Amino acid sequence: MKNNNIEPIRLAVFASGRGSNLESIMNNIKACRLDAKIVVVISNNSKSGALELAVNNKVAAHHISRLQFETEESYINHLLEVLKKCDTQLVILAGYMKKVPVKIIQTYKHRILNIHPALLPSFGGKGLYGKYVHEAVLEYGCKVSGATVHIVDEEYDTGPPVYQQCVPVLNDDSPETLAARILKVEHEIYPKAIQLFAEGRVTVHGRKTIIANP
Ligand code: GRF
Repeated sequence: MKNNNIEPIRLAVFASGRGSNLESIMNNIKACRLDAKIVVVISNNSKSGALELAVNNKVAAHHISRLQFETEESYINHLLEVLKKCDTQLVILAGYMKKVPVKIIQTYKHRILNIHPALLPSFGGKGLYGKYVHEAVLEYGCKVSGATVHIVDEEYDTGPPVYQQCVPVLNDDSPETLAARILKVEHEIYPKAIQLFAEGRVTVHGRKTIIANP
């Protein structure tokens, strides 16, 4: 996968929680499977595992929360400043529980990715996060679920998909067992999706992403 001819793509990772997707991205970079460099980790949660992981791996780590700023504008401008200072090329949402401000989405148009633990457009949108997604999938009686990496637009979970993978739903699944099966897939497909951007293979045509052959 790793291509020696390409410059590592510069990633800013936004995360609010434990940071297992961040960790898998870091591990894939270390294992030379992903041509990327994490230039900054940003979290709205000062106690997140993601920030701790960044610090332990000597990656710039910033706790940035709307509450630290008097106005929405100064908050957004600060976020933008941090992203620009680090020469960010791609923004990676990895369990980020805040809506990304529209100005940032416009500045990084088609260059912000998110991962969602279901097959979008099913079981996405406001309120469908974490265990609520898996509870809803089980309640509906679905036979498959999965994970989706998608480009972020102004709404929750509505941007064009880049990479999707299914997992089976088993008869005796609980939200926790299903979540664990899907998380494993997330850790595989997020680095792969990012690598597609590193290789410059993704173009967006309306709702469709086209992945060029290697
Ligand atoms: C993942 O399940 C991801 O799909 C969702 O939030 C969770 C983050 O988990 N967006 P982690 O913090 O990366 O472990």
